[in-house]
Amino acid sequence: MKILYAYFSRTGNNAILAKEICKSLDCTLERIEADADLLSMFTMMRLAIGALLGIMPRIKEPKENPSEYDLLIIGTPAWAGEFPSPAKAYLRKKKGNVKRYAIASLSGSGNNPKMLGQIRQVMGAEPAAVMEIGMPKTEKPSMDAVIGADYLQNECGREIEEFITKIRGGEKRPGQGAPAERRAGPKSNARDKAVRKG
Ligand SMILES: Cc1cc2nc3c(=O)[nH]c(=O)nc-3n(C[C@H](O)[C@H](O)[C@H](O)COP(=O)(O)O)c2cc1C
Repeated sequence: MKILYAYFSRTGNNAILAKEICKSLDCTLERIEADADLLSMFTMMRLAIGALLGIMPRIKEPKENPSEYDLLIIGTPAWAGEFPSPAKAYLRKKKGNVKRYAIASLSGSGNNPKMLGQIRQVMGAEPAAVMEIGMPKTEKPSMDAVIGADYLQNECGREIEEFITKIRGGEKRPGQGAPAERRAGPKSNARDKAVRKG
């Protein structure tokens, strides 16, 4: 199975998660890049206002075409409980070329149902697998906190393993009925979701 893992990451955490998952799953990695400096407060304010007005930000042209892959993993944090607009811009651009997709999210809380709903809405289909992981709990949570790969290996191994197993499960049943995203109803998706509260 050919897998494209397209991830959006402002501070690098979802990049670390993507690389960790790709140690076990053979994926092509593609970083979704906003055409602006995301560490600038001005950019973040502009994106927030744009999101409120439904204006999509510009992103750098992705190199990979999802139509050449069997599965797209979309990796993303949550911003204000929502799907960050640069990642949304990517999916809107590419969704017509996606056969099946899965969601891997590393966010502050690891519990952002609105964001998951927004991704489903953009894609118009159910994901083959969903994994939400939260940041480590600290006394002073910061939106700029950065994890190490050891956190994922030591504290999130079960969630990552379940996610990989689910994706590999799809691989073992080629050609059997409808793709997993169409088979999975809302109930099975809730069951699939591995939430780690950070
Ligand atoms: C503007 C902003 C808003 C955020 N809002 C949320 C939120 O609503 N829920 C949440 O769980 N995490 C939230 N976070 C935390 C990020 O999801 C978290 O820091 C994540 O690890 C960032 O991933 P990245 O390093 O890949 O960009 C927010 C972060 C930023 C910068």
